[in-house]
Amino acid sequence: MSEEITITIDDRQIKTRRGEKLLWAALENDIYIPHLCAIKEEKRPNASCRLCFVEIEGVSRPVTACSREVEEGMAVKTRTPRVDRLVKTGFELLLSDHNLNCRECPANRNCALQVIAKKRRLKLKHNRFKPIEREYELDQSPAEFAFDRSRCVLCGQCIWADRVEAEVGAIGFTNRGIDRVVTTFNNLPLADSICTECKLCVEACPVGALYYKEGQKA
Ligand code: SF4
Ligand code: SF4
Ligand code: FES
Repeated sequence: MSEEITITIDDRQIKTRRGEKLLWAALENDIYIPHLCAIKEEKRPNASCRLCFVEIEGVSRPVTACSREVEEGMAVKTRTPRVDRLVKTGFELLLSDHNLNCRECPANRNCALQVIAKKRRLKLKHNRFKPIEREYELDQSPAEFAFDRSRCVLCGQCIWADRVEAEVGAIGFTNRGIDRVVTTFNNLPLADSICTECKLCVEACPVGALYYKEGQKA
């Protein structure tokens, strides 16, 4: 069993385990830090969503809590002007490539972006970053679910579910930078790929990108 250690987050002392990542230590103690891409079982997080910034006493720059291990005596702040600025910018950038029609979204009221916006008092609308205009195809080929890339936040949760939980490997990231998307091999519709339609990816999606077709349940 890992050694228990004590750290301080927002002036609150908490017990955690050596080797644990700061994000999980905080969340397990009901201390909220925004996050989209973190996966607890992943030993080497990508830290790609750039939303989980915190400041650590004695460390010159904010760090991502999902990739930083706890250390005995560490003193952490989840809200500082620098952290708030970084989170706001990351969130606004993310929304610049997101279909923000919440009322028509299958995840409305059950969406990680809405949670982040509420907890951090951020606006869920396009802002200083011009919205990226492009057409995303809607994949409705599976029997019970659909994939709407216009709502994908590129968190990678579906890819982990597909590869590690389902052990299929039907989907993955393609391209880099702003062209990054989740696709099947050769960009085939899911039903024409090796996807078994197990729906573990749908369960993992924190927004309305992978969703059940109306009236269907897992
Ligand atoms: S439904 Fe298809 S893509 Fe999704 S986890 Fe299962 S096999 Fe993978
Ligand atoms: S489809 Fe959902 S789970 Fe997959 S990367 Fe996009 S937002 Fe994340
Ligand atoms: S949760 Fe840390 S960068 Fe995404």
